Amino acid sequence: MIIVPKVRGFICLTSHPEGCAQNVVNQINYVKSKGAIDGPKKVLVIGASTGFGLASRITSAFGAGAATIGVYFEKPSAEGKPGSPGWYNTAAFETEAGKAGLYAKSINGDAFSNEIKQKTIDLIKSDLGEVDLIIYSLASPRRTHPVTGVVHNSVLKPIGQKFSNKTVDFHTGVVSEVAIEPCTEADIENTIAVMGGEDWEMWIDALKAAGVLAEGATTVAYSYIGPLLTEPVYRKGTIGMAKNHLEQTAFTIDEKLKDLKGHAYVSVNKALVTQASSAIPVIPLYISLLYKVMKAKGLHEGCIEQMQRLFATRLYNGGAVPLDDKGRIRVDDWEMQEDVQAEVAALWEQATTENLSAIGDLAGYRNDFFNLFGFEFPGIDYEKDVNEVVNVPGLV
Ligand code: NAI
Ligand code: NA
Repeated sequence: MIIVPKVRGFICLTSHPEGCAQNVVNQINYVKSKGAIDGPKKVLVIGASTGFGLASRITSAFGAGAATIGVYFEKPSAEGKPGSPGWYNTAAFETEAGKAGLYAKSINGDAFSNEIKQKTIDLIKSDLGEVDLIIYSLASPRRTHPVTGVVHNSVLKPIGQKFSNKTVDFHTGVVSEVAIEPCTEADIENTIAVMGGEDWEMWIDALKAAGVLAEGATTVAYSYIGPLLTEPVYRKGTIGMAKNHLEQTAFTIDEKLKDLKGHAYVSVNKALVTQASSAIPVIPLYISLLYKVMKAKGLHEGCIEQMQRLFATRLYNGGAVPLDDKGRIRVDDWEMQEDVQAEVAALWEQATTENLSAIGDLAGYRNDFFNLFGFEFPGIDYEKDVNEVVNVPGLV
């Protein structure tokens, strides 16, 4: 079929198999261009199909030559119905891994469930024996708790008071004021239940109890801090409480891995356009200004540049892992540089519908957004009939 973008608000309902494959190949080529990393050998990526998780999987495989198992929740493709981007990304990744002689298998299902954890453990046992790196990169709006059966929904709201600020509709470029009502107590608990550290700890507990963690195993989850501008709705909002919980959980897990001489880390990453971040009010305006400033300074990175740097210069640098005063890895260091933040804050004051395409990188934002779904890649003929039904070679 001929597949065109069908955009509804901050999501796109269609995705393009060849464009998604191009996206994956570009990331693989980038990692290869940076040289070999003396890194992990057997890697489990939870949330492996898009964003930071996909980039972590690509870096593990094509940077360090690792065998990888990916867990994700994606819509398979069917006749007349394109799959979700993560489906096509995984198909492309596993095809490329196969060509390179790298083990790559995956499991499509709810990572929060006991069933998918068990299925993953069974696969590790039968194929790899153990894993030495576990990346935890889930971003989800909801979680069914595996013990209570309660469905928790996460929200992106300020705590205690209404938050008003500028935002942009990145499709139209219209800058407007947005006001977000404060959350309830239950919203905080629910957001922590979805995006906090409980499920990460459950994964590590289950893997450890099954005896599939290698000596010296490392696990990493991803967090975000960001600027003062977005603090009320991000770091000091409901999602920030979940990130605090995730960061605390790293210490709990680290303790549990002591007998294996293993470690648990949180890496604070840069703000990037992903399916998850497009949904957060105010963030798209911040990102479009940030991109402009970071690109001008030659400091811009995408998910793959971030993850390659995380592996090569932080996790597997041959020495100690550099941490901040709160015990976190920081690859948001360039985003948070004083000069970058000062320039973004000044542009924020000026930003209007009229000037945003000049002072901000709205075009870069939109391009990244469409790229997430496999659209707007040069060299792909989007008028062409493509086969929308694509198999994931390593799907278990
Ligand atoms: P994403 O939306 O691109 O990726 C989410 C992944 O989780 C996908 O592989 C998806 O299939 C999987 N997933 C979601 N629900 C699932 C479920 N129930 N079972 C199995 N798999 C499921 O998100 P992104 O942006 O890569 O986020 C990953 C982590 O990075 C999150 O913790 C996020 O907070 C963090 N982060 C994101 C930043 C950003 O700017 N996008 C910045 C810093 C951190
Ligand atoms: Na991810």
